[in-house]
Amino acid sequence: MDIDDLSGVHPAWLPPRAFQAIASRRVAVHGTGLLVETVREEVGATVTAGAELVLRLTGEAPSEVGPLGDEGFALYRRDGVTVVLAGAPAGLLHGFFHVVRLGEAAFAGERPVERHVPAMRRRMLDHWDNIDVHPVMGQVERGYSGGSIFWRDGVQRDLARVRAYGRLLAATGINAVTLNNVNVHLAEARLLTDRLGEVAAVAGVLRPYGIRVHLSVSFAAPVTLGGLPTADPLDEGVRGWWARTTARVYEAIPDFGGYVVKADSEGQPGPFGYGRSHADGANALADALAPFGGVVHWRAFVYNHRQDWRDRSTDRARAAYDHFAPLDGTFRDNAILQVKYGPIDFQTREPISPVIAAMPATNVAVELQVTQEYTGQQRHACYLGPMWSEVLRFPLAGRVTVAGLARELVAVSNAGDDRFWTGHPLAQANLYAFGRLAWEPSLDPLSILDEWIDLALGPDADREALHAILDDSWRTYESYTAPLGVGFMVRPGHHYGPDVDGYEYTPWGTYHFADREGVGVDRTRATGTGFTGQYPQPWADVYESLERCPDELLLFFHHAPYDHVLHSGSTVIQHIYDTHFAGAERTVEMRRLWERLAGQVAPDLDARVRERLDEQVRSAAEWRDQINTYFFRKSGVPDAKGRTIY
Ligand code: GCU
Repeated sequence: MDIDDLSGVHPAWLPPRAFQAIASRRVAVHGTGLLVETVREEVGATVTAGAELVLRLTGEAPSEVGPLGDEGFALYRRDGVTVVLAGAPAGLLHGFFHVVRLGEAAFAGERPVERHVPAMRRRMLDHWDNIDVHPVMGQVERGYSGGSIFWRDGVQRDLARVRAYGRLLAATGINAVTLNNVNVHLAEARLLTDRLGEVAAVAGVLRPYGIRVHLSVSFAAPVTLGGLPTADPLDEGVRGWWARTTARVYEAIPDFGGYVVKADSEGQPGPFGYGRSHADGANALADALAPFGGVVHWRAFVYNHRQDWRDRSTDRARAAYDHFAPLDGTFRDNAILQVKYGPIDFQTREPISPVIAAMPATNVAVELQVTQEYTGQQRHACYLGPMWSEVLRFPLAGRVTVAGLARELVAVSNAGDDRFWTGHPLAQANLYAFGRLAWEPSLDPLSILDEWIDLALGPDADREALHAILDDSWRTYESYTAPLGVGFMVRPGHHYGPDVDGYEYTPWGTYHFADREGVGVDRTRATGTGFTGQYPQPWADVYESLERCPDELLLFFHHAPYDHVLHSGSTVIQHIYDTHFAGAERTVEMRRLWERLAGQVAPDLDARVRERLDEQVRSAAEWRDQINTYFFRKSGVPDAKGRTIY
C-alpha cells in the first residue's frame, strides 16, 4: 500500500457507520464560516425545512444554558427534533461530532438542554516528528506508529493523511497541534523561516477542523538561523530578530498558535547559556508573539542530565520546582509553563509534579505522554485513560485538583503513518481518550473506552472481552514492570524491556539504589533529598512518612527495607514477587480474551493485535523473571510461595 493513499487506512473512530444515524435523517445547518462549511460537508445534503437534526450557529443560546464561548455548544431534543446550538463555528463542529458519538441515542425521546463547554481552553498534541531520519531516534522520536504523517525522508508529504488526522482529532475535541520535535535539529529549525511554507500548508489543511498549528523552535535560532552573535533574550538585536521572524510567520499563517520551547534541557540551548532566567527566555518569545495573539509553551523539563551517580545530594525530581517555582508571577500572560505530570519523566507511576501547585500566578499546562515510551511502546496493550483520570482528579492543592490547577492539557502524540494510526490498534483508545479528557476531565475513562470501542470496532465486537483486556491494562503493565513507584529499570536508549541496573550508574539521575537491605530513593526531608518538602500539605507529610506513604509510591519517596510491611499486608519483597507473577499471568489471560474477538473485527486488525499481544506475553515474562531474579539475588529472601525464580 502506498502510505499516502488513504484507502487502506483504518478509519479509527470515524468509520462510515458512525454517521448512519445522521445519514438517514433530514439535517439543517444554519450559519456561515469555514468550520460551518466543514459541518455541511460532513453532513452531506442539508434541508431547509422539516429537519430532524438542526445545527444552528446563533448568538442566542437558550437562557438556561449560560455562555458557550468560542467552542461550546448546547444540545437538546424536543418534539422530535434534535438541536445543536453554538455561538461560534468551532462550537458547531464540536456539537456535530458529539451527535456522531451519540449515534441513534441523539434521536431518541426528549432531551433536556445540556451545555458542553471545554474545561481546558487549549487541548494540544505535540508531535515529536523529525523532518530527516535521525540516526538514533528515527523519523519520529519515541514514535511507535511508523513514520511521520507530515514528512518523509526530508520532504513534506502529501497532506491527505493530515486532513484525515485533523478530522479525527476534531472529533475528540483537540484544537492545537505542534508539528515538530521539541529536540529541534537544523532542518526543523528552518520551519520557522525558509521552510515556513510547509507549516502554512499543514495549517491550511487543519484549519477547517478548528485546529491551530504550533511549532517547536530552538532557543538558539537567532544564532543558527539569523546569523546573530548571540541568542541572549535581553539583547535588543535578538528581540528584534524574534519580532521580525514572528511577524513573517503571521503573514503566512494568520491563526498560527505559537512556539513550544525545550530550553536548557538534555542538550538544547537556553537562557542559562547567557546567564538569564527561564522567565527572561520565555518572555522574550512571548513578547514577539503577543501582538498576534500567539502563545509560547515553555517546558519545565529542566534538570541536570550529566549528574554524577555517586552524588546523593542531587535529585532530578526536585529540579523543575527548584528552577521554576521562584519565578512564579514573572511570566507574561501569553507564556504557558508546560509541566510533565510527574517530577521525573512519564513513568508508569509517579507522584504528581509539585510544580503544578507551586505557581498560582503562572499559566500552567500539564503534559501527558500518549505515545507509550515507558508504557509498552504500543507493543503492549496499556489503556492510559485511568492513569490520566487519576492524575487530573488528584487533589494537589487542598480541594483543588490537577484539572482545576491546569489551564491547558498537552500530550505527546502517538500517531504515525501506520495503517491503524497508532501501531497497536488498541492504542487508538489512548489518543481518543486524551482528547475527551482534555475537553472534560471528569469523564469516566471506562465510558470513554466504551465510546471508542463502539465507534472504532463496531457493535459486533465483544465489548466485555475488550473491557476485560483494557480496563486494568495500565495497572497490569505497572505490576510486571518497575515496582512501587521506583521507575525506570528499562533498557537505556530505546527504553523497551527490562534492565534493572540499566540507568543505575549513568548521569541521567534515574536511580533505584537497590542494595541487600532494601530499595528506593530517600526523598524525605528528614534523611533524604528533601523533595517531599516541595508538596503542599497534606502531601508533604503523607509522602514523608514511611507509614502513610501510599504503597504504589513507596519506593519513589523511601528507601524501604525488603521486609517493610505495606498497607496491603504484604512485604516489599513479597509484593514484588506476587505482582510480577500475577501481572505476567494476566497478559496470558489478555491474549486468551482476544480470541473472543475472532471474526468480529477486520482480519488485518485482528492479526496485528494478536502479534502485539504475543509480544506482550513474551515481554511480561521477561520482565517478571529479570525483576524477580534481581531482587531475589540482592535480598536473599525466597518467594513465600516457592515459585520459580532464577
Ligand atoms: C524523554 C524522552 C526524550 C524526550 C524528552 C522530552 O526524556 O526520552 O526522547 O526528548 O523526554 O520530553 O523532552
